[in-house]
Amino acid sequence: MSKFYLTTPIYYVNDQPHLGHAYTTIAADVLARYYRMKGDQVFFLTGTDEHGAKIAESAEKNKKTPQEWCDEMSARFKLAWDVLNISYDNFIRTTDQNHEQAVKKAITRLYQKGWIKKGLYEGLYCVGCERYYTTKELIDGRCPDHQRVPERVSEECYLFKLSAFQKPLLRLIDEKTLVIEPEKRKNEVVGFLKTEKLEDVSISRKRVQWGIPLPWDGSQTLYVWIDAFLNYLTGLGWDGEERVPELWPADLQLMAKDILRVHSTIWPALLLALEVPLPKKIFAHGFFTVNGQKMSKSLGNVLDPIEQAKNFSSDGLRWLLLSSFPFGVDGDVSLEKFYEKYKADLANGIGNLVARVLALATKLQLTNYKLKKEREWVKKIERVWRGYQRAMEKLAFEEVAKEILNFIALVDREINKKEPWRLLKTNLVEFQKVIYNLLESLRQLAWLIQPLMPETADKIFDQLGILSSEKKKNLEEAKEWGGVEFDKIKKGEILFPRL
Ligand code: MSP
Repeated sequence: MSKFYLTTPIYYVNDQPHLGHAYTTIAADVLARYYRMKGDQVFFLTGTDEHGAKIAESAEKNKKTPQEWCDEMSARFKLAWDVLNISYDNFIRTTDQNHEQAVKKAITRLYQKGWIKKGLYEGLYCVGCERYYTTKELIDGRCPDHQRVPERVSEECYLFKLSAFQKPLLRLIDEKTLVIEPEKRKNEVVGFLKTEKLEDVSISRKRVQWGIPLPWDGSQTLYVWIDAFLNYLTGLGWDGEERVPELWPADLQLMAKDILRVHSTIWPALLLALEVPLPKKIFAHGFFTVNGQKMSKSLGNVLDPIEQAKNFSSDGLRWLLLSSFPFGVDGDVSLEKFYEKYKADLANGIGNLVARVLALATKLQLTNYKLKKEREWVKKIERVWRGYQRAMEKLAFEEVAKEILNFIALVDREINKKEPWRLLKTNLVEFQKVIYNLLESLRQLAWLIQPLMPETADKIFDQLGILSSEKKKNLEEAKEWGGVEFDKIKKGEILFPRL
């Protein structure tokens, strides 16, 4: 059995969970469910990032202590992920005691090994982002995210010797010890590492109270990003000592392109300094805009995942987000397009097909449909599975959705071709054979959609009367054509009601 350790970024609790956070988290959940379905030992980690000046600022504005604020906001993320059926194995919070203890141990080791030195940091600091910018990164002298002019700050601090890792990082990426995908993003990272000098990075702040104090200098707190990165290890129960948990290294770390650079420089450098193996793969997906605009509070176009799950159902929203545009690139979404797509793919597509087949199958009081193998048809579904798995394993979720839609169209055409309503009157033996293949196709369809739409898959199994027996199968068993007896089928609720 292979293991599959998968992470999302941990999200800042100064904002409510929005559809952007949901996008990464749903994608990770689809993969977690897919690899579990394959029988792998999956561990899926997500959580919240709870330290730093910005969070203390938000708490104050809301007349809360920072901890109260974090508790409240972290719970909102958990609630959103519950609504969206996110099957994480651990939800880490950076204010968890064991995380803080482990981080202290780890940075003390780095300090003792000489990777951290005292220094003076001068730079352009954006309070909004909690980070320093180089002049090159600014747009018209302003932070590209917050459009504010960053402050020039000079303070005594501790520096992590990031500059020592420039060559090793390039080599490790080149050797594919550290795989960065998509290719285009990897090239950006390599281009950056080849042309710009990696500077030592300040890892502590005098001015920030809400953070983990440095064990050897209580006047400073740890820079929030260093604290945050280590979640990927503490989330597995790591105590900060030399030995790392068995599930490490991560097999896949998902994030959007906004935080790829830090994840391919500071993060692996920290691991190298700690002498801990690097994650196997980092994948940066694109950003999406809403009606062509970046989601932002000031534009008032921030989409709330809970509200949208009420609109489209949790499964509906999961489908819409992942099938609308390719995962690796930027995309645009809009509620109008979501409504259209919901109608086409879900109400008229999956929902209609399931209702159509069950209506035909329950026409006759004949409810023990038994296997009749049709070689041609079996070959077709095997081809669908191959395309589907290939797409899933390269994180091409929109291709996965296309495979599913193609399969639905195929089954629809088969119904039209075989005209079972005619056979019902003329040839009952043939009718049963056709219906068996259609019911078996629905069973396969339920398996195909399961990682993306787990609730709908269960509803289909239930209508087919096989929910509990299918739950015991793994993917290889499930893909096996036939052998299932459909003797308890029942027409059920409409899967995707029209909106
Ligand atoms: N706390 C840091 C991450 C630390 S990980 C060690 C952080 N948090 S965040 O709350 O700002 O979340 C950033 C992540 O949210 C992005 O990398 C991405 O996964 C997701 N997204 C936020 N907005 C998004 C879009 N508009 N589109 C796609 N993904 C988006 O950065």
